[in-house]
Amino acid sequence: MNFNSHFLPVCLANKLAIDKPKQVWFHKKPVVLIRSNGKVSAFSDYCPHRGIPLSLGTVRNNEIHCAYHGWSFSCTDGKNTNVPVKNKSITCKLLSYKVVEMYGLIWISDVEEASIPILFTNKPTLTSAGKIKANFHNTIENFLEGSHTHYVHEGLIRSKKAKRQLIKAVFEPKETGFKVYYESEKAKGLITKLTPKQYQNLRAVATYIFPYIAILEYFNDKDKLISRFEGIISPSKEGTNFFARIFLNVGVFTPFISIFANRVFKKVIKQDKKILEVQERNIELHPNNKFISDNTDLVGAQLFAWLYKKEDRILEKKEFHLFW
Ligand code: FES
Ligand SMILES: [Fe+2]
Repeated sequence: MNFNSHFLPVCLANKLAIDKPKQVWFHKKPVVLIRSNGKVSAFSDYCPHRGIPLSLGTVRNNEIHCAYHGWSFSCTDGKNTNVPVKNKSITCKLLSYKVVEMYGLIWISDVEEASIPILFTNKPTLTSAGKIKANFHNTIENFLEGSHTHYVHEGLIRSKKAKRQLIKAVFEPKETGFKVYYESEKAKGLITKLTPKQYQNLRAVATYIFPYIAILEYFNDKDKLISRFEGIISPSKEGTNFFARIFLNVGVFTPFISIFANRVFKKVIKQDKKILEVQERNIELHPNNKFISDNTDLVGAQLFAWLYKKEDRILEKKEFHLFW
């Protein structure tokens, strides 16, 4: 799979302070982000003199000064501006990345022509970022598919004790990925049960946009969007980096529900992280085993097809049923 033509989010925008260099990871490479002179720049986190991370240095007057021997570089173009023992600059330049600040995130790319996904422009109710020591496609699957929620998020989203309902799901292929529409189901978890009646019967739509966007949306009976969860999930040094943007829209109840929901969402993310890391360790111990998927596992199987085996993609609409 190729991420080269896509900007990757590397940092929440509000976590990058002015003139405070910050180390982030772009795939398996350290990058230093600098917010200086009203602009964000990104360079390889490596001083060309003796290899010290520039993120350990200090920023003054739009220049970053290395922590080891004080070489300085322009934050605008990465050119060397001074070698202290010479008291002048030399011809050398830091490797730079393209940077975009958008959707409350800082995105970088190492190619000229890279794209940014289309996400919600509203201000999210909650933004969360983290790392998971797990394979990234298993993490995207976890974000998009619901059959683990009865177990991993017992009582919060769904419950393994509640009687299951048979619902219809429709898989729809798209140019850029796929969508799965789920018929509405009665609230069975704490999150929805606490909301007013009109928000207790929700229809879900899961969207995958190749290669790294997962979106979950819930609509009420009147087709009003009640909540939307955007996951930007990409491979990183230790496994997976994720950024989640969560939007709630439950009318006048939104501020009240948000306070409570934010705590629940953090717990849900923690539960997912835990199971994904356990899964990863166990998969590593069984390198020759293959997963078994049946026709209710379409999300995971199609994700896999999109990422690694394009000829296995389903190209027409498909209905299936689930005991949810
Ligand atoms: S390693 Fe950076 S100035 Fe020497
Ligand atoms: Fe989950």
